[in-house]
Amino acid sequence: MQISVKTTSPANQKSACLVVGVLEHRKLSPSARQLDDASGGYLSKLLKQGDMDGKSGQTLMLHDVDGITARRILLVGCGRQASLDSRQFKKIIESTWNTLSDSAAREAVCYLGELTVKNRSHAECIRLMAEQMLLGEYRYQHKPRDKDEKKPAINKMLLDVSDRRHLHKAELAAQIATAIAKGANIARELGNLPANICTPTYLASSAQKNARGSKTTRVKVLGPKDIEKLKMGAFLSVAKGSREEPRLIVVEYKGGKKDERPHVLVGKGITFDSGGISIKPSAAMDEMKFDMCGAAGVLGTMVAIAELNLPVNVVAIVPSCENLPDGQASKPGDVVTSMSGQTIEVLNTDAEGRLILCDALTYSERFKPKTVIDVATLTGACVVALGKHACGLLSNDQKLADNLLRAGKRSGDRAWQLPLWEEYDEQLKSNFADMANIGGRDAGTITAACFLARYTEKMKWAHLDIAGVAWHSGHHKGATGRPVGLLTQYLLDQCGRKYQLS
Ligand code: BES
Ligand code: MN
Ligand code: ZN
Repeated sequence: MQISVKTTSPANQKSACLVVGVLEHRKLSPSARQLDDASGGYLSKLLKQGDMDGKSGQTLMLHDVDGITARRILLVGCGRQASLDSRQFKKIIESTWNTLSDSAAREAVCYLGELTVKNRSHAECIRLMAEQMLLGEYRYQHKPRDKDEKKPAINKMLLDVSDRRHLHKAELAAQIATAIAKGANIARELGNLPANICTPTYLASSAQKNARGSKTTRVKVLGPKDIEKLKMGAFLSVAKGSREEPRLIVVEYKGGKKDERPHVLVGKGITFDSGGISIKPSAAMDEMKFDMCGAAGVLGTMVAIAELNLPVNVVAIVPSCENLPDGQASKPGDVVTSMSGQTIEVLNTDAEGRLILCDALTYSERFKPKTVIDVATLTGACVVALGKHACGLLSNDQKLADNLLRAGKRSGDRAWQLPLWEEYDEQLKSNFADMANIGGRDAGTITAACFLARYTEKMKWAHLDIAGVAWHSGHHKGATGRPVGLLTQYLLDQCGRKYQLS
């Protein structure tokens, strides 16, 4: 779907469908009022009849209204203007999208940007709308579909901007939304693919495919021999329990000045996590195909920033392998040496994410990064602590943490900070190595981050635990594309006023 912005006049706008808001107590939005006038009071008559009262999320499709050029009018209930926040607004867009894509319209003009959303600028409102619709458009690509199952119907969406002075920022908003949705939908597809298709090798070639033809993005893929040469003993200790070869994927985006230090993003790419010898219970184990969603989020973000041509340098590093039980697999009690030289006692082979991440983090030092952010479905404990709404954030630099928290709020892809205190680090003590790979039952998300912190002391580093937010379970099982929104917003914020919508 192509999204664009324009100033139009509703009554004589040619379109298959005009989308206009009705507020609670049958109050017409400005564009709805114009349509009402042009149709000789038809809309207010319907409202008076009780066909709709403007409650949030209601929709009513009208056809061939007299005095109106467009073929259809979709009335959308928007609730109370005074209490309209971004969460409510998203829901309104969602039901708008559902009704629209069930209709026969192939194109539409949407006037909901005239609503005022709490704590959001007009341009941010446009961004929210565009992003929500483009995410709604996503369908899992790999599933064979019935012939009669309709393709998503809308090819073109015009977002009306009533005040011409807002057009410029609205244009940027549409571009940002389009880039983020593209990145997030790529991340979702990778996440949703089963582990027998989305292997480390597949992840690597998909990263290469994303960068094909690009002047700013280069991809380097390292195999087992290279990883051995780098002495990534922790990463290899996980990989060796699987017949699939591991990959270390490095994507370099150069949009900034030549010698400007890059931001590094590291993504956990476990394409399937069985737990290894410390094997997981079988219930819902299929969901461990999503254990590469950190990698997918990071690769999706690289697509989004390249799409926007952002003037920054960014490097993505993805260590990728499977975690399986095997005659060659690591055993509880094994001691391995990481690339940093520090030794690790592997007390639980299911705490594998930190083992592949620690070597990737050490590797990231060579880029002399401004900041390093790792993204990982790292701990079940994070789902217990924060549920499905916020990802966990831990950092050794409060300014970086604040920047990420702010980016999360702005993008609606939120994070919540947990403490990274030395007291917790003590839980990692081992009698047989520099550290153990687990810290006991208490504060599992924090001790996992403490483990990673031992590999990032020289850098400004933050860790995002996305175990709770990366996918939905149950009826709507599927990857969410988070945290592409948060990461892209963070990088946009590095590019100055020009890229700000607020
Ligand atoms: N990939 C899992 C974390 C996970 C579990 C994410 C469930 C989402 C849902 C990770 O590799 C893991 O197994 N972590 C262990 C760590 C423990 C052994 C210290 C966990 O959380 O149970
Ligand atoms: Mn695990
Ligand atoms: Zn895992």
